[in-house]
Amino acid sequence: LPETKLGILPGFGGTQRLPRLIGLPKALDIILAGKTLKPGQARSYGLVSEIVPYPQLVERAEAILLKRQRTKEKSISLIDKFLTFTSPGRKIVQRGAEKQIQRATKGFYPAQPAALQSCLFGLQKGLKAGFDFEAKELGRLLVTPESKALVRLFFLTEDAKGIGRSARAGVSEMRAVVVGAGIMGAGIASSLARRDIHVVLKDTSQQALDKAIAHIKEFLDKRRHLKEKEKSFILNRIETTTSDSANIGNATIAIEAIVERMDVKKAVFSSLSEAMPEDAILATNTSSLSVSEIAESVKHPERVVGMHFFNPVEKMPLVEIVRGEKTDERTTAVVAALTSKLGKFPIVVQDVPGFLVNRILTPYLNEAGFLLVDGYSISDIDSAAVSFGMPMGPVRLLDEVGLDVAMHVSEVMVEGYGSRMKSPGLVSKMVQASRLGKKSGKGFYDFSSSPSRPAEDIVDLLGLKRERDLGDKKVVIDRLVMSLINEAVLCLDEGVAGTPGEEAAKQIDLGTVMGTGFPPFRGGLLFYAEGLGAKAILQTLRHLEKQHGDRFQPVRGIVDRAESGKSFFSAS
Ligand code: NAI
Repeated sequence: LPETKLGILPGFGGTQRLPRLIGLPKALDIILAGKTLKPGQARSYGLVSEIVPYPQLVERAEAILLKRQRTKEKSISLIDKFLTFTSPGRKIVQRGAEKQIQRATKGFYPAQPAALQSCLFGLQKGLKAGFDFEAKELGRLLVTPESKALVRLFFLTEDAKGIGRSARAGVSEMRAVVVGAGIMGAGIASSLARRDIHVVLKDTSQQALDKAIAHIKEFLDKRRHLKEKEKSFILNRIETTTSDSANIGNATIAIEAIVERMDVKKAVFSSLSEAMPEDAILATNTSSLSVSEIAESVKHPERVVGMHFFNPVEKMPLVEIVRGEKTDERTTAVVAALTSKLGKFPIVVQDVPGFLVNRILTPYLNEAGFLLVDGYSISDIDSAAVSFGMPMGPVRLLDEVGLDVAMHVSEVMVEGYGSRMKSPGLVSKMVQASRLGKKSGKGFYDFSSSPSRPAEDIVDLLGLKRERDLGDKKVVIDRLVMSLINEAVLCLDEGVAGTPGEEAAKQIDLGTVMGTGFPPFRGGLLFYAEGLGAKAILQTLRHLEKQHGDRFQPVRGIVDRAESGKSFFSAS
C-alpha cells in the first residue's frame, strides 16, 4: 500500500480491511510507511497465506478453488487482537503511532495522521462508517499541495528511470573497473557488485584497497536481510589490484574516483583507454574538474562522461550524468541505464563548474555564512531551514560534507562564476583551525557529545558578533531559499539541465530533492518557485538586494517571467 508516499491514504478500503485482516500494528506498519512487501514478508505479516513457485501457480490456485486443498491461514496473534479490537489496546497503538508519525514526517505530511485516524475510526465505529470516513479523507487529501507535489515527484522519478531505457540491454553484461578505492570508489564498487556487476577495484595503495573492502564488508553486515551466501557472492564480484598490468581488457566501463587533480586524472584516462576495448566507456566521478578537458587525454572523447555520485554513495539516490563537449548519445544513455540499474536516479547535466547540484547549493551554503556573520546563531539558522522542511540545516550540512571539501568546491565556484559565488570566508578559517567538520570530530558543531551541539567557541574563533535574536524565522528562510531559487533559474535558462523548458525544470526539481534534500512535499525547487510566482519572488529578491547587496540581484529569468507572466516550466 504505497499511497501515503503519494500524500493520500489507501482509499479503496485499505485502512478498513487491512487492520481486520492482519491486526492494527502490522497494518499501520505497512500503511504509514507506504510499504510494499516481498513475498516472504507478506506471508509473515499474514497478508498472503501461501507462496507458490510461479510454474505451479495455476495448478495450486485451481486446487484451492475447487476446495480440494486448504490454505494455511495465519491468524492474528492474541496480543494483536487485543491491540486491534479493544479500545484500551488501540489507545496504546495510537500513542506509539502518533510519535512515530511525528518523527518521520515532522508534521509536514498530512496523509499519515489521516490514515491513522481512518483505521481507528473504522475499528471503533464499524466497517460502513469506516469506509465513509476513509472516502472523505481521501477526497480531502487528493487536493492538498503535499499530495500534488508528491505525485509530481513520483512522475519525475519514473521519467528519470526512462532516460537510459534505449541502452538497458547493454548494461546487463557489464564488467567494470573502478579506479581509486577511497570513500567514493569503495561506495561505487559496492553499489556495482550488489547489482551483479563484476568489478576490478584498482588503487595505487594496498592499504586503501584493504580499507575499501573492510568498508564494504561492514556495509553488507549491516544489511540484515542479506544472507551470508549473498554477501560472499557480492564480495567475490570485487577483484582488487594495485597492478598497472591488471587484466581490464574485457571491461566495458571504467569509473574513475581518484584524487581531484587534472594531471593525474588525464594520465589515468590515457592509460585506461589504451588498456580497454575500443568501445569501452570511460566515466569520471570528478566533482569539480572539466569532463571535456579530461576527455582530451584519450583517442575517443565521445566515450568520456561524468558520473557524479554523491557521498555517501550507498545512500544517496542521485547521479549527475555530465556530458562533455564531445560525449555522444550512446555513452550518455548507457551510463543513465547503469545508474537506474544501481537503483539510483540519473539527471543529465552540462559540464559547467559545480555541475547542477553543487552550483545551486553554493549560494545557499554561502548565505548560511552571511547569516552567521550577521549574528544569527548556528541553531537558529539550522532550525529555520529544518522548519522549512530541509532534512538538516545548511551549517550542519557543511559539517557533514567536510569543511575542506566545501572549501575546495567554493574555490572552484568563485573561479568559475566570480564574485557572485563569494562566501564570507568562514569555512576557510575553520579549515585553517583544523576544524573539518564531522570527520575531525569538530566543525561548526561539536561531535564529541551525543547529540552533537553547536560548538561553543565559534563566536570567538570566527570573530562573529554576539548572537542576535532570531526574530521572524521567515527572514532567515527567505535568505536561504531565495539564494537557491535565483541560482536554479539561472541554471535553467543557461541550459545546465538541457534545453530550457519543462524537461529541464523537471531535472532541476529531481536534482534538488534527491541531491540537496529540498523537501519532497514541496515537489522540487522550481515547482515551489512556480507556486510562489515570479512576481512575488522578484519582490522578495529586490527587498533582500536592498538590504544585503548584489548577491541577491534577481537573475534575468526571474525579472522576465515576472513581467511576461510566463512559467518556470517554459523558456523565459
Ligand atoms: P579519496 O582521497 O578518499 O580517495 C582517492 C583514492 O584514489 C585514494 O585511495 C588514492 O590512493 C587513490 N589514487 C590516487 N591516485 C591514483 C591513481 N593514479 N591510480 C589509482 N588510484 C589512485 O577521495 P574521494 O573523496 O573518494 O574522491 C574521489 C573522487 O570523487 C574525486 O574526484 C572527488 O572530487 C570525487 N567526489 C568526491 C566526493 C566526496 O564527498 N568525497 C563527492 C563526489 C565526488
